[in-house]
Amino acid sequence: MLLTRDDWYETSRDLDWTFTAVDRDEAFPTSWSGAAGVPEDAWQGWEEPFRVSYRDYVRIQRDKEAGVKAVSNALVRAGTYEKLDPAHVAASHLHMGTTCMVEYMAVTMQSRFCRFAPTPKWRNLGVFGMLDETRHTQLDMRFSHDLLKHDPRFDWTQKAFHTNEWGVLAVKNFFDDIMLNADCVEAALATSLTVEHGFTNIQFVALAADAMAAGDINWSNLLSSIQTDEARHAQQGFPTLAILMEHDPQRAQTALDVAFWRSTRLFQTLTGPAMDYYTPLEQRKTSFKDFMLEWIVNHHERILEDYGLKKPWYWDDFMHSLDQGHHAMHIGTWFWRPTLFWKPNAGVSKDEREWLNAKYPNWDDDYGVMWDQIIANVNAGDVEKTLPATLPALCSLTQLPIGSAFSRHELADHHSVHNGQRYHFDSHISKWCFDQEPDRYAGHKTVVDRFIGGEIQPMDLAGALAWMGLTPEVMGDDVYGYRWAAEYASANGRVPLPVAGD
Ligand SMILES: [Fe+2]
Ligand SMILES: [Fe+2]
Repeated sequence: MLLTRDDWYETSRDLDWTFTAVDRDEAFPTSWSGAAGVPEDAWQGWEEPFRVSYRDYVRIQRDKEAGVKAVSNALVRAGTYEKLDPAHVAASHLHMGTTCMVEYMAVTMQSRFCRFAPTPKWRNLGVFGMLDETRHTQLDMRFSHDLLKHDPRFDWTQKAFHTNEWGVLAVKNFFDDIMLNADCVEAALATSLTVEHGFTNIQFVALAADAMAAGDINWSNLLSSIQTDEARHAQQGFPTLAILMEHDPQRAQTALDVAFWRSTRLFQTLTGPAMDYYTPLEQRKTSFKDFMLEWIVNHHERILEDYGLKKPWYWDDFMHSLDQGHHAMHIGTWFWRPTLFWKPNAGVSKDEREWLNAKYPNWDDDYGVMWDQIIANVNAGDVEKTLPATLPALCSLTQLPIGSAFSRHELADHHSVHNGQRYHFDSHISKWCFDQEPDRYAGHKTVVDRFIGGEIQPMDLAGALAWMGLTPEVMGDDVYGYRWAAEYASANGRVPLPVAGD
C-alpha cells in the first residue's frame, strides 16, 4: 500500500542519529551548531511552515527553471537588451558583481545547516536551501554569460569577488562574517531572518518592479524567481529565534541589532542608488525610503514585537539615516567612479532633483549644494575637479566610507581603541557593533589600512586602481558622459559657482 505524504513526512524529516562511537558534542560541536546554552531537547520544538518534500521540491523547482529559461531565451533572441536605458543596465552590473558570489557563499552556509544544525528538521530544510542557492548562482552566471558579448562588465559576475575592488570587499566582509564565519544559530538570525526574510525584498521585489518597468523583463523575471526560494528558506530564522528567546534572549537581541544595522548600510550602498538614481525617473515605482518603511521597518517592528524583543537602541538614528545614508553613498560612489566596475548615473537632472526633493525634503540642503559644485565644474569644462585624487577614510566595521551614514552636517569622529590600536567608524552605531566583539572585527584591515601599510604600490590612485583589478574597459565613468549637466549651463555655457551660505 502506498503511504500518503502525511504518513511518512514527520519520520522522513526527523530522522536522527544515535551515536555509539563518539559523543554528540564531538559530532555537533557548539562552535559550529551555535547551540551552546540551549538544552538538547529544546530543539524538538523547531518547526517551520513549508513542510516541503524532496519530490515536491524538484517538481516545483523544475517548473520555475523552465519558466525563467523560456523568458530568457525569447528575450535574448529578440535583442531587448540593446534597447535598455544605460543607467538601468548599470544597476544590473552592480547587482551581478556584488550578488552572484554571495549566492555561492550562501551554498556553504546552507551546507553548514545540513551538517551541523542542532535538529534534523532544520538539517533537512537546509538541503533545499543549499539547492536553492546553487540555482541562484547558476541563474546569475547564465544571465551574465548571455550578455557578456554586449559588455565586459558582466564578467564581474564571477570576477568581482576575486578582486580587491573596495565595494566588493565591503560586501564580502559582511557575508564572510554572517554566512561563512557564523555558527548555525547566528547565521539563521543574521542571514536567514534579517537579510533573506527582510532586506532581500528590496533587491528582489522593489528592484524587480523597477526592472520590469524599465523593460528588462529578463532580469526582473530572474529576480522574482529567486525571491520565491528566499521566502521559503528564510523561514529557518523564525523557529531558531523562538528557541533562543526561551534560553538566551540577550544573545538574540544583540545578534539581530548588529545584523540589522550592517544590512542597512549595505543596502544603502547597493540598492539605494540603484532605485533612487539609476532607475530612469519615469520608471521608478517607489523611493528607496518608502520601500524601506513599508517592507523593512514595518516588517522588523512586527518580528521584534511578536518575539518579545526590543527595538534596537539606535532605532531613531536608523530612521534618520533613511533620509541620508544612500544619498551620501551615491554622491560618494559617483565621485570615486574610477573605483567602480559599473557606470554610475548622477541622476540629478532638474526633473530628477524635483523628485528627490519631494521624496526627501532636505535633499537640496544636504546633497544638492554638493552636486551644484560638481555641475559647475562640469559645465566649466573642469571634469578633472570632479574626480578624486585620494582615497576616502573607511570604517573599520562596515568598510564603507566614513561620512556616508548620515549627512554632511553630521561628521563627528567615532573611534575605539583596542589592543593599543585606534579604529575609526562611519557612525556611533558601527562603533557599538565593533565594541560588542572587538576581536571578531579588529583583524580586518580596510583598503586605507593596506594603503598606508604599503601593500598597495605605487602609493597613488593609479596604484590603488591596479590593486583593485580595475581595468580601463570596465572602470566606472558617468553613464551619460555628463550630458545631463548641460541643462544647468547658462547662455555662455557656464553656471555660476554656488556662493557659501546660499
Ligand atoms: Fe539566494
Ligand atoms: Fe538565500
